[in-house]
Amino acid sequence: MSAVLPVLAARLSTAAAAAFGPSYGDLDPELRSATKPEFGHYQSNLALRLANALGRPPREVAARLVDVLEIADLCEPAEIAGPGFVNLRLRASTLAAAVNEPRTFTSRHQRVVVDYSQPNVAKQMHVGHLRSTVIGDALCNVLQYVGYDVVRQNHVGDWGTQYGMMIEQSLEESLDPKDLDLQGLQLLYERSRKHFDADAVFAGKSRNRVVLLQSGDPETRASWRRMVDVSLADFDQVYALLDSKLTRADVVGESAYNDELPRVVDDLTAAGLLTESDGALCAFLPGFTGRDGQPLPVIVRKSDGGFGYSATDLAAVRHRVSTLHADRIVYVVDHRQALHFEQIFALARAADWLPPTTTAEHVGFGTVLGPDGKPFKTRAGGTVKLTTLLDEAVSRAAALLEDRDGIDREATAKVVGIGAVKYADLSSDRGNDYVFDLDRMVAMTGNTGPYLQYAHARLTRLLSKAGAEHDQVTEPGQVTELKEPAEERLALLLTGFADVVEQVAETLQPHRLCTYLYDVATALSVFYEQCPVLTSQGSTRASRIALCAATRTVLQDGLGLLGMQAPDAM
Ligand code: ARG
Repeated sequence: MSAVLPVLAARLSTAAAAAFGPSYGDLDPELRSATKPEFGHYQSNLALRLANALGRPPREVAARLVDVLEIADLCEPAEIAGPGFVNLRLRASTLAAAVNEPRTFTSRHQRVVVDYSQPNVAKQMHVGHLRSTVIGDALCNVLQYVGYDVVRQNHVGDWGTQYGMMIEQSLEESLDPKDLDLQGLQLLYERSRKHFDADAVFAGKSRNRVVLLQSGDPETRASWRRMVDVSLADFDQVYALLDSKLTRADVVGESAYNDELPRVVDDLTAAGLLTESDGALCAFLPGFTGRDGQPLPVIVRKSDGGFGYSATDLAAVRHRVSTLHADRIVYVVDHRQALHFEQIFALARAADWLPPTTTAEHVGFGTVLGPDGKPFKTRAGGTVKLTTLLDEAVSRAAALLEDRDGIDREATAKVVGIGAVKYADLSSDRGNDYVFDLDRMVAMTGNTGPYLQYAHARLTRLLSKAGAEHDQVTEPGQVTELKEPAEERLALLLTGFADVVEQVAETLQPHRLCTYLYDVATALSVFYEQCPVLTSQGSTRASRIALCAATRTVLQDGLGLLGMQAPDAM
C-alpha cells in the first residue's frame, strides 16, 4: 500500500507556491480524510489558510489554487466546497494501484534509544511495569518499521541503600539470596526495613554495608549480584509470557552508572550549575517552582554524600548521547514522573550533555485501575502479581475458544489472552487511566484485540478457501476494480496504513494505530455484507480476493507492530 496522501499534500504545496509565491509552499496543506463520502476522499483547508495569510476571499483563493493544482494523473477534477475547502477524489485506478503497490520505508540513519519496562530488583513487577513494557515494545516496533535504528534500554532499578540492609539481614538470618525467589526477596526487604527502623546497631551496619557495596567489596557485590540475578530471572518469565522483545542484553540498570556519578557532580560543579543546600548539592533551574513559589531543586548528591535517582538519570542521558549516539531518546514511564524528566532534560541541556540535535521525550501513561476505580491492588493492598493476571487472561481466552475445533486451543488461547491485555492497554490514549477489566478485554466484539485477531483469522480462512477451490496456492492478484462504495472505502483505508504508522512514530501514541486497525476491521465487515467475494465472478472475484489479501496484510502487520500475534485460525 503506497501512501497517496503525502503525494497529494506535496502537490498542493507546489500549487500554493506556484500561485501565490514560494513562501506559501511552506503552509501545512492540512490534507485529511474526508469526513463524508460525498466530499470525496480527502479534504484540504489550504485555501482557507492561504486566504487568511493573503487577506483575500477564500473561494477566490481556492479557485486559483485548484487552477494550478496538477493532479489529473491521480484524481478526478478537484471540487471547491463551502467556504473554500478543496475536496479531492482519487481515480479508481489510482486507488487500486495504491493498494497493490508495496509500501516502503527507507532507513532514516537516525538512532532512537527507548528506555522502558524498568522493573525494580527484589520487587514484583506491577501493572505500571506492564504498561511500560507493552507500550515500549510497540513503540520500538513502530520506530524500527519506519526506519529508525532502535536501541532498547531496560533501566532496571538495581541500586540504592536498601541493598545494604537486605544484605545485612540475610547475613543475620544466614540466608543465601540465591535460594530465595522474588517473593522471598521482597519479604526479606520488608523484614530488613523493620529491623533498620527499630535497631540502631543494625542501621549502622546497614549503612556501612552500602559503603562496601558502592566501593566494590567483592563479597558484598556477590550477594547483591545474586539478588539481581534472582530478580532478572523472574522478569524474564514475565517477558516470555508477554512475548516481549526485551532480552538480558537490553538490561542496563541503575548500577551500571555508579562509577560515572562522581564525574556527573564534578562536571556540573565546573559548569557552575550546582548549589549547596542543607548539605546537598542541588541544581536550581529557571522555571521550576513548586506550588508555593519556592524553587524546585534537582538533588544531584544527597547530604549524606549518596547519589540518587536523578544523578543516575543524568549519567544515563550522557551515556546515551555520547556513547550510544542517540538522535532521539524516549522514556516510557508513568506520568507521575513527568516533572522529574522535565528537570533532567533541562539540566542535561544546560550542561550540554543533551545537544539541540537530540530530542528527549517522556512518554507518560496513566494508572491501571482495579474494578473499584482505584489504583489496582490486591485486597490486602499489595501489588498484583503480573503473571497471575496474565494467566487469568489466558484462561479467559481459553474459555472463549472452548467450542472451536481444528485449532491448537492452548497456543491460540495464549496468543488471544495476551493480545487482549496488550490491545486494551494500547488502544486508549496512553495518558488516560483505565480499568483492568478482563471481561471487556477478551470480548469478541468492539474495539478489542480478539475482534481484530478474529477479523484476520476469518480473512485467512477465506483466502485459503479461494486458493483451494482453484487448486492452487493463493497467490493474490491485483485489485483491479473498486465499484461498490464498501470496497472503495476499505481500499482507501488500506492506503492510509503507512501514514498512520508514521504518525505513531512521530507522536508516540500507539492508540492511533489501534483506532486505524479497528476502522479497517469495521470497513471489512461492511464489505463482507455488501460485496460477495467467493460467490462473485471473473475479474470482480479476483479483485475482491486481492483486496482481502491486502487487508489481511495490513491487519497482520498492524497487530505485529502492536506486539500481538495474529493466529491463522481461532
Ligand atoms: N524503576 C523506576 C520505577 O519503577 C522507573 C525507571 C524509569 N526510567 C528512568 N530512566 N528513570 O518507577
